[in-house]
Amino acid sequence: MRQYRIAAIPGDGIGQEVIPAGIEVLSALAARAGDFHLDFKTFAWGSDHYKRHGVMMPANGRAQIRDFDAIFFGAVGAPDVPDHVSLWGLRLAICQPFDQYANVRPTRILAGIESPLKGIGPGDLDWVIVRENSEGEYAGQGGRSHVGLPIEVATEVSIFTRAGVTRILRYAFEIARARPRKHLTVVTKSNAQRNGMVMWDEIAAEVAKEFPDVTWDKMLVDAMTMRMVLKPATLDTIVATNLHADILSDLAAALAGSLGIAPTANINPERTAPSMFEPIHGSAFDIAGKGIANPVATFWTAVMMLEHLGENAAAGQLMRAIERVTADSALHTPDLGGSATTRQVTDAMLAAIRGDNLLA
Ligand code: IPM
Ligand code: MG
Repeated sequence: MRQYRIAAIPGDGIGQEVIPAGIEVLSALAARAGDFHLDFKTFAWGSDHYKRHGVMMPANGRAQIRDFDAIFFGAVGAPDVPDHVSLWGLRLAICQPFDQYANVRPTRILAGIESPLKGIGPGDLDWVIVRENSEGEYAGQGGRSHVGLPIEVATEVSIFTRAGVTRILRYAFEIARARPRKHLTVVTKSNAQRNGMVMWDEIAAEVAKEFPDVTWDKMLVDAMTMRMVLKPATLDTIVATNLHADILSDLAAALAGSLGIAPTANINPERTAPSMFEPIHGSAFDIAGKGIANPVATFWTAVMMLEHLGENAAAGQLMRAIERVTADSALHTPDLGGSATTRQVTDAMLAAIRGDNLLA
């Protein structure tokens, strides 16, 4: 029996609803497969922990989860804790020291889900966004002087290292190579940002030589938003900086029907520390506690976690169960225009997993 230890961090808001749903579904899947076991340990870190102890996670938090095989993360952010405190105190405090430099965001229109784009259905929009996840605009460099005075000044310096840019481009070319269309679009803003972004373009051309079987093109980020909306079928794998890909991935999620289904993986490709898997949607305090959060993003995130663990058969089964459930509009939560609850969607997933015809 293959055993995996998973650190679950539900975090804030609807993270506390969707992560338990994900654990239920993953446990049912493992029980059904019979040849692997997921051992979950839940860590109650986040904004409530901050309000009690003044920190988002204990000082030795990272040491506590370092030896796990993966991290299953919900969301972080609360209305009464400054966002930069909660983000840097938990999510980035794990991503950056664990060197999860590749953030992978698949986007596809799932069965039964409607895109807001006219005439676009499954197959017309099938992307993987690879987001640089360790530096760039999120490097945390900068500071404030003359605080509170009329001459106050703040700097927010982007950091682009040759090593960091090269490794994310290589990773993106590899993802592109593994997909049927073998096409990568490199997004920058090298007309206006004439240092870091020009270096990106140069390194992209260098790394591309290692991947002669992958076609690639370049886009400026502003033009990219138009191409995503107007010509979605021309795109496949996309790589961009931390901030650019953050913005593009919200657009991608909206074009695929809802942020409530979008998954992500924060990957340490060299596996020197655990990778972290999370739904993109965030803590969504406006609907927290109502039992109506869409758990599909978490289930799809779980598919990515199983793939990372090497459990590809189970990952395939879980993805089929997800699309069976999304295909039924009676099982759509309010973000998709329906009235189903988290519980109903989770129960439908459990029924699909325990049913007879999932292995096909
Ligand atoms: C994301 C989110 C985060 C980010 C927020 C919560 C800081 O928008 O994962 O895309 O910008 O990285
Ligand atoms: Mg975002």
